[in-house]
Amino acid sequence: MSSEIKRIAVFTSGGDAPGMNAAIRAVVRTAAYHDLHVYGIQRGYEGMIDGDIQRLEPRDVGNIIHRGGTILKTARSQRFMTREGRQLAYESLQAHDIDACIAVGGNGTFTGATIFYREFQLPMIGIPGTIDNDLFGTDLTIGFDTAINTAVEAVDKIRDTADSHNRLFFVEVMGRNSGFIALNTAIGSGAGSVMIPEADQTIEQLLEMLRKSARRKKLFSLVIVAEGNPHGNANEIADKVREQFDIFDIKVTIIGHLQRGGAPSCHDRVLASRLGFASVGALLDGRKDVMVGIVNDKIRYTSFKDAIQKEKPLNEDLLRMAEILAI
Ligand code: F6P
Repeated sequence: MSSEIKRIAVFTSGGDAPGMNAAIRAVVRTAAYHDLHVYGIQRGYEGMIDGDIQRLEPRDVGNIIHRGGTILKTARSQRFMTREGRQLAYESLQAHDIDACIAVGGNGTFTGATIFYREFQLPMIGIPGTIDNDLFGTDLTIGFDTAINTAVEAVDKIRDTADSHNRLFFVEVMGRNSGFIALNTAIGSGAGSVMIPEADQTIEQLLEMLRKSARRKKLFSLVIVAEGNPHGNANEIADKVREQFDIFDIKVTIIGHLQRGGAPSCHDRVLASRLGFASVGALLDGRKDVMVGIVNDKIRYTSFKDAIQKEKPLNEDLLRMAEILAI
């Protein structure tokens, strides 16, 4: 174990995700167990630049494991994208004698982390925290499980009213460039169809599916749309379908930021605790430029470069199953 690391900082960055607090708690308490001093940086890279950095003791992270959001706040920092911003951030860390950082976030967070490591050689470890689940090198990211449960609960409610009125609903869920949330929500809520970037389903294919359902006397329908769907968002798809399909009254619901909040599921709390615990171990083992993930129930380290650049494949079998179960 390396003895060079004495003081570490933890921060959350990018979109918040339920379970981030559980990760912070695990980092602080694991570090304390190893006699490391821990500092919390407020508002991600923004707070790093501004020197908004405070000591965190094990008791400071009591009573947070069940809370959504992040006690450290979060931000998407434009300033950190500049060399000047990163220089200021480095100086703030030096002023607190910080030897290494643990970043909880997604793609943008890790892009910043690896650039920062290459420029200043300050060890950076990433914990995958994003509801999108779109990071290579981990089966699941913190927040994803809670988000799909929230989305399914919402779709269950929409199902009741869709059924009562014989309506077709397009329900938009988050997932900027990926369909993990949409596909799992569709399967979990028993939706008729799902439109995601990975499958590239055309409007014509969707119309064909809707016509078939109508012929089978299906009286209402639910279509889950990922916000990053290449053929348009839920409103745009609904407009195109309305032009050619007048069997159903068509409505649109955008679940939006509702799916980013709320108490983390037990699965997310356990995942975040394991990743927080492992991230401190990674630093003590001398790792410097990696994301810690879990693959097949085992801790796995992936370079930030791969975590960001490699595409995480969607399970094609799930997609096919979703279509079959919706007939
Ligand atoms: O990356 C997580 C995410 O929730 C995406 O699904 C979504 O596109 C984006 O963040 C929204 O970000 P913001 O809250 O900054 O608008």
